[in-house]
Amino acid sequence: MNYSLVASGLLLWCAIVGHNGLAMVMDEKVVNASSSYSSYKDALGKAILFFEGQRSGKLPSKQRVHWRGDSALSDGNLQNLFDLADKFRGSYSASCPFYCSFSSYQDELLWAASWLYKASGEMKYLDYALSNQGWSHGVAEFSWDNKFIGAQTLLTKEFYNGKKELSKIKGDAESFICSLMPGSSSLQIKTTPGGLLFTRDNVNLQYVTSSTLVLMVFSNILKKNRIDGVQCGSVHFSRSQIKAFAKSQVDYILGKNPMNMSYMVGFGRKYPQQLHHRGSSIPSIRDHPAKVGCNEGQSNYLNSPNPNPNIHVGAIVGGPDSNDHFNDARSDFSHNEPAIYINAAFVGSVASLLGKNK
Ligand SMILES: *[C@@H]1O[C@H](CO)[C@@H](O)[C@H](O)[C@H]1NC(C)=O
Ligand SMILES: *[C@@H]1O[C@H](CO)[C@@H](O)[C@H](O)[C@H]1NC(C)=O
Repeated sequence: MNYSLVASGLLLWCAIVGHNGLAMVMDEKVVNASSSYSSYKDALGKAILFFEGQRSGKLPSKQRVHWRGDSALSDGNLQNLFDLADKFRGSYSASCPFYCSFSSYQDELLWAASWLYKASGEMKYLDYALSNQGWSHGVAEFSWDNKFIGAQTLLTKEFYNGKKELSKIKGDAESFICSLMPGSSSLQIKTTPGGLLFTRDNVNLQYVTSSTLVLMVFSNILKKNRIDGVQCGSVHFSRSQIKAFAKSQVDYILGKNPMNMSYMVGFGRKYPQQLHHRGSSIPSIRDHPAKVGCNEGQSNYLNSPNPNPNIHVGAIVGGPDSNDHFNDARSDFSHNEPAIYINAAFVGSVASLLGKNK
């Protein structure tokens, strides 16, 4: 199926059914609202602002969050950290109260080695990935826990750069694409009726933004190497179908969805008002100079029915349920909490719609 044809079909349909001229223009605006160059640019700027609010290290002088300063400058050298992690392999989960690594440590080591190779150019990291490629297997999600597809995508670039020994890794990366593309014979992740990838109900948009980034990067790898697409059993997906599906996920997040809702705070006409976030839901010290105690925070602000006083521009929430429904309630953290791992991947996805590869 050609997704870009579906999108233009929708516009045409609006034009045909819009007997009332005004209704027609409004429908077109809804269709166009989230997918123009200027709105992607706006969304990208906002997504990066969220990142600027929390990044560490040496901050550039032009960063926009003026109250933040340099931090974590002496956290050590990444290469030493890699050696440490490789030497003391083990399960963090054994004594882990929260954010346990259910996928174990092999994915993190492959992912770290792949990035260190890219950053340093040192062959020992590529050799490490080559000699441990047996750890790799096909997966259907990319998350704070499971990073295999991140490593597989980086290493697929090396495959096309001439490291043909990485063909198994390239195959694993293709199986990820095949597990998501609607219509694939090895589909594992279904979409909601409104077209959103749905992995699980708890902070689902993290899987959407991360998978979308992989789809975007993968379609760029195919383009660069003049490969027309990916074969998934009997179904072939062209590069432009993969890219169009990825774009549909960005557009859904920005408002082209059954709720007509942008899941990025501060973007579009309708967005979550009750973000599950202390800094956003508790008033600023300027408006409320008295101290807000822990219990008071809960009773007066967490449980308040009012919109948040501070708009956390750029934050993307956990998102709608499997029926595209979204209940804008602060207490519902699985759907209304923002996270770095949702935004980070979104930055890359929306940037690819603006970049030279678009
Ligand atoms: C929406 O986009 C279509 C196709 O790019 C264009 O023809 C139409 O004029 C746009 N509508 C509005 C209201 O901007
Ligand atoms: C979303 O917008 C469409 C088109 O304007 C409209 O038909 C629909 O009722 C809206 N849905 C909601 C939940 O507002």
